[in-house]
Amino acid sequence: MKNIVIFGAPGAGKGTQSDKLIEKYGLGHISTGDVLRNEIKNGTELGKTAKGYIDNGQLIPDELMVDILAGVYDSFGKEHKGVIFDGFPRTIPQAEALKKMLAEREHNVAAMIELFVPEDELMNRLILRGQQSGRSDDNEETIKKRLNVYHTQTSPLIDWYKSEGIHHHVEGLGTIDEIFSRIESVIDSL
Ligand code: AP5
Repeated sequence: MKNIVIFGAPGAGKGTQSDKLIEKYGLGHISTGDVLRNEIKNGTELGKTAKGYIDNGQLIPDELMVDILAGVYDSFGKEHKGVIFDGFPRTIPQAEALKKMLAEREHNVAAMIELFVPEDELMNRLILRGQQSGRSDDNEETIKKRLNVYHTQTSPLIDWYKSEGIHHHVEGLGTIDEIFSRIESVIDSL
């Protein structure tokens, strides 16, 4: 059982590297951003609430996120090899809730992998993706807000996971395959 938290600023490559991890290690994938965008697409109450926060570059309140987490995790069944948490946790209360939810199932997080990418590169990647895909939060103004939220609310998790003894820093600049081989080294050493 290898549950992995893939962590990093908006545009750090969490989703891109998750796809490769799923393929190589057969892990499940929980992207809270994808879960929320799906709720928006389906016009649910959660989706209606989430849209306002996402389009403004803000985080959805912790209690809403924590409420949906256990159900999504349990949907992988009892025998899974592990799950990649992509975009969760984003605050210390979310990390505490994740730890508690997993402990109740006698599971844990094996590693938190922090993808580090300089800010100008993050901005370039997201502007380009916004132009290509039209994702509503990939415009310069909203990206700046998302980066600010990352620095104030999410990056304190780096020290939190260091104190848990499972933080791994990975340089997130380079080709997708180069970055993946750095991640593979971490996972294969667990
Ligand atoms: P979410 O969907 O999680 O977005 P994010 O964290 O901003 O991350 P991104 O998807 O933008 O980037 P990524 O790191 O996955 O990079 P990617 O691989 O796509 O969250 C969206 C919103 O939902 C949040 O702002 C918040 O409102 C809400 N939300 C979600 N989770 C929440 C939570 N837990 N609590 C509260 N609110 C929550 O790559 C980015 C681009 O770069 C792509 O175009 C890719 O092709 C390209 N790229 C990737 N790797 C490379 C490379 N090596 N070189 C060049 N380009 C690359």
